[in-house]
Formats: sequence, structure tokens, C-alpha cells
Amino acid sequence: MYKIFQGLTAEEMIRKLPEDQIRHCVNVEILVGKLVEWLPISKETFPNHIYLNFSRAAYYHDIGKVCVPDYILNKIDALTWEEYDIVRRHPVYGEELLNFCMKNGSSGIPPCLLPLTKQAALYHHEWWNGKGYPFGIRERKIPYVARVTSICDAYDAMVSNRPYHRAYSHEYACEEVRRGAGTQFDPALAKVFLEHETEISHIVGEICTYSTDKLIIEKKRLLYSRQN
Ligand SMILES: [Fe+2]
Repeated sequence: MYKIFQGLTAEEMIRKLPEDQIRHCVNVEILVGKLVEWLPISKETFPNHIYLNFSRAAYYHDIGKVCVPDYILNKIDALTWEEYDIVRRHPVYGEELLNFCMKNGSSGIPPCLLPLTKQAALYHHEWWNGKGYPFGIRERKIPYVARVTSICDAYDAMVSNRPYHRAYSHEYACEEVRRGAGTQFDPALAKVFLEHETEISHIVGEICTYSTDKLIIEKKRLLYSRQN
């Protein structure tokens, strides 16, 4: 199944997604980068500053969607059960695809970043209460990078235009994150995210005005503006 992707880098695969999905990957990368800056992460928990790679890993979280037909990703009407089932497989597709790339030496992702990238891809739809997918694992069994990605993924999916819904407001999305704290989301991470509501609103207000090309050019500045 993955042979059609032979020789492609992970980046080239992401660029095969519909444009709104590419934007989503970049937005999540930026938001994860910001959330990581705000988290009280100790160097003991994450030696070698591995958390600094969370945002890059999060960029690839939906790479498995390249295995989902575009007609499903772009569908305006409600998905059938069969289509929904295919969409729900994208975390597993993502991890398998990254393994396939790795075996073929073509991922373009540095080896030190690959374990985090696979965790973000495979576990970003798991829920804190165990009601997510694909495995239904819960709480701290869900890798940290996936818990961080999960909040930014859900938030961005709500505030962005999608084929099947118009963008919801920042306030609505924050309220949903608040409601999901302790059920869908790690409550400690959701708390930090919501403490920075205003900053998040500014970031999203800025990135939504950019074309996809400009967004990709500007993302480094947005990610590293605090350090510069
Ligand atoms: Fe996803």
C-alpha cells in the first residue's frame, strides 16, 4: 500500500495533502511551538531539550491522511460509516508510513526526531479519559508530545474553515478546550493553553491572513520570535 510513496520525503507527502490540510499542519506546528514555550517543562523530564522538537514532530501529525482519498478529505456532506472508518485509520497509516520511509532511508526527518514524530502521528487522537482512538489508551500512557499536539490540533480544526464547516470563533474553540479538559485533553496542558488565550488569538489572527506559501515562509519567524 505504501509503495506509491516510495522515494518521497515526509515533507513531500505532506505537500500532497489538500491545501487546507497543509495549512492545518503548519498551524499546529506553530501552536505546539508556542505551547511548549509556556509549559513548565523540566530538563530532568526531557533531557537533551527534546521538547524543543515537539513542534517539528507535530507538523507531521496528520501525514497518514495522504492514505485517505481526497474525495473523503474534501467531502462537504457527512461521512458514511465506511468513510469515517478510513479517516480514523490515519494515525496508524501515519506511523506505518514513517516506518516505511525510515526503512527506505527517505523520510528526510533526522533520526533523533523520528520517535517523537511517530508518537505525534500515532497518538494525537487519543483522549485523556481513554475514549479516543486508535487504541483507547489514557492519561500519561499517551505520549506527552501527542497530548500537546492533541489540544493544538483540535483548536486549529475548530478555528479553520473546513469543507464540512465554517470556522468557529476563537472564543468557541477555547470554550471547547475548557470543556474537554480532563476528558479529551490533559487538564494541566489545557490550563496552560487557556492561560494564553489572548496570545493564541493574536497568532491565529495573523496566520489566517497569510497565503499558504507565505505561511510556510513566515512560520520560522512565528515559531522563534521570542528567542530572537
Ligand atoms: Fe489527525
